[in-house]
This record gives sequence, C-alpha cells and structure tokens, in this order.
Amino acid sequence: MMKLRATEYTWEQFEALPMETKAELLAKPDGMPFCTLFAQQFNRERIDALCDLATKIRQIAKTRSGMEFLQSLLFHKRAMIYFTQPSSRTFLSFHSACQILGLRTGEVRDAAISSEFKGETREDSIRTFSSYFDLIIMRTQEKGLAERMSWVLAKSERPIPIINAGSGKDQHPTQALLDIYTLRRSFERRGGLANRTILYVGDLARGRTVRSLSNLLLNYDNIRHVFVAAEPLQIGQDILDMLDRRGASYVVTDDMQKYLPEADAVYMTRIQDEWDRSKGESARIDTSKFKINANLMRLMKPSAILMHPLPRRDEIATDCDTDPRAMYWRQMRNGMWIRTALIASTFDCQSRIEAFFRDNF
Ligand code: NCD
Repeated sequence: MMKLRATEYTWEQFEALPMETKAELLAKPDGMPFCTLFAQQFNRERIDALCDLATKIRQIAKTRSGMEFLQSLLFHKRAMIYFTQPSSRTFLSFHSACQILGLRTGEVRDAAISSEFKGETREDSIRTFSSYFDLIIMRTQEKGLAERMSWVLAKSERPIPIINAGSGKDQHPTQALLDIYTLRRSFERRGGLANRTILYVGDLARGRTVRSLSNLLLNYDNIRHVFVAAEPLQIGQDILDMLDRRGASYVVTDDMQKYLPEADAVYMTRIQDEWDRSKGESARIDTSKFKINANLMRLMKPSAILMHPLPRRDEIATDCDTDPRAMYWRQMRNGMWIRTALIASTFDCQSRIEAFFRDNF
C-alpha cells in the first residue's frame, strides 16, 4: 500500500504548505494524484493523460467484451461513497464509474443515520471506512475536510485514497475535470482550448465549480476569464490573486450582455442560497441580469458553447436546451467517463487499458 510523503508533516505543517507542494506530496510515483483533493494537482500533462484515458474507456465500454474487460480491472476493490451534502449527478456518476470498473460500493448519504449521530468524530468515521473499503469518495459541507482526512489516513495502517467530490464553497476538482474534458472535446477540431474567453455567470462567491475550473484553466495559454455576477456574489479575491500571480487576464463585471458576443464558453451557475447567512439573503439580490434564454443566446458566437454544472433553476431557460451549443447534458455524461478515468488512474490501471485499446481498436 502506498505511503504518502504527507506523513512527514504534522497536520498544522501540512495545512500551511503551498498548494503546489501539497500536490506533489499527494502524488503517486507516476505524478498522478493518489488522493484527488484540489484542482492544483493537475498540470497539463496530467489533464491530457486523463482525458485521453476517458476517451479510450468510453470506446472500450461500447462492446460487451470491452465492458467485461473494464469490470475485471477493479473487481477486487470496494469504494465508500460518503456524501453528507445533497447530490444527484455527482453521486450517480461516481456510482456508475465504480460499476464500470467493477468496484463494489457502499454509501453513507446522511451522517444522521451513521455513527456520527452517536457522537463519533469524522476522523473515526473515516478510519472505519478505511477498514472496509479501498477508496473513499467524499462530498462535505466543510472546506478542507477531505484534505485533513487524507492526512489522517496517510498516517494510519491503511492509507487508502480519497477523492474530493465537492468540499463546501471551496473546491470541486472532478467537476472541473469534466468541464475541461467537455471544453477540450468541443474545441479539439477547432484549434484547441488556448486563446479562449470564458464567461462564468451567477453565484461565483459560493459556487465551488468556478473556483476549481478557473484554476484548472491556468494550464492553457492565454485564457481570458470574465466573471459576471451581482456584486455580493462576485468571485473571491483569492482567485483573482491567483490569476494575477499567474499573469492571466480577467474581467470582473456585472454586464453579461456586453461580454456574451466575445465568449467561447459561457459557464452558468445557480444561486447557492443554501449558504445564506440570513433567511432570504439571496432573494434580496437582483439576479435577473444573470440568466440566459434562447433570445440572448443569439448574441453568442455560432461556435461558442453553453455550460452548466447543474442542477439549474431558471438561469438557463429550457428554450436553450435544443440549441446545439447547449452542452450541459453532454457535460454530465462526460463526468461519468472522466471520473472512471480518474479512479482507473488512482489504481494504476492506465497501461492495461491502453494495451486493451491497442489490441482491439
Ligand atoms: C454543483 C455542486 O455541487 O457544486 N453540482 C454538481 O456537482 N454538478 C453545482 C451546484 O450545486 O450548483
């Protein structure tokens, strides 16, 4: 079993390390993450490797013999899907990804019916899972919990990998991977992902998907980030500081219509009112300018795409759904394949998948 170099640090020391250092400490010898916790763990080479693997897996999965091969890969492993925050897509896509690779799954979706209700600490719960399972996929309210648990497990006798499936308002690295995979597939025959303008619209203060995606997009040349939101819902200064450090160009605005014609991708998000500090806080903000419909889509380039991590409310009107530029349903399915690739890579299955692909396609 892998021993992470994270064990050389106390939790306080580890937590204070720069993201880049943490990323290296959480990596396997091949450079891919052992624990997938934040977007900064992926450089261009790792993103490309995962996307290529996802595309091969989806080809292989088209046939019965291909599915039999894929299901044999991790037949000997079990995964705990520990989701204490609501989820449909991320839960189902991870569940499906496990099924594709033959992993059997267990799940906790409500801490109130686990021993946490009896006062067990999160640390003890996670160590309990690590006694029965070989992988933990977790979604929590709490920023940094997956990271702390990875450190706890790294010190234990069964240091199994953890995949962060959404941590509070902070990060959602696998959503960012599926977003990049979608962008890559959309632009691969049209000059690639470099030199693109990306509009992020909606609740950028509390939406974790945009935080992870803007991070991952730093791996591509000359991306222009346009953050479109009502002032109280604008992107955090920490993200702008990071863009500044990396010399990336960005615009912070509340004028969606002005920038729609310049966008190559428009990434809509929902108002995350579950984080409201007082009842009706979000409802008092005028968000009417941060919605799109078929009429407004006419302002977008014919080659631009419309994305959304889903679930949506009314920020994308249903009359957009039949527009060929609406990518959100495909985005969701891409999520299943990139998560399958990530789990396969976590357990070092790439070379067997590549060999099968070479022999059969
Ligand atoms: C997102 C999330 O949970 O952050 N959903 C998802 O994983 N597809 C976005 C959201 O809830 O608005």
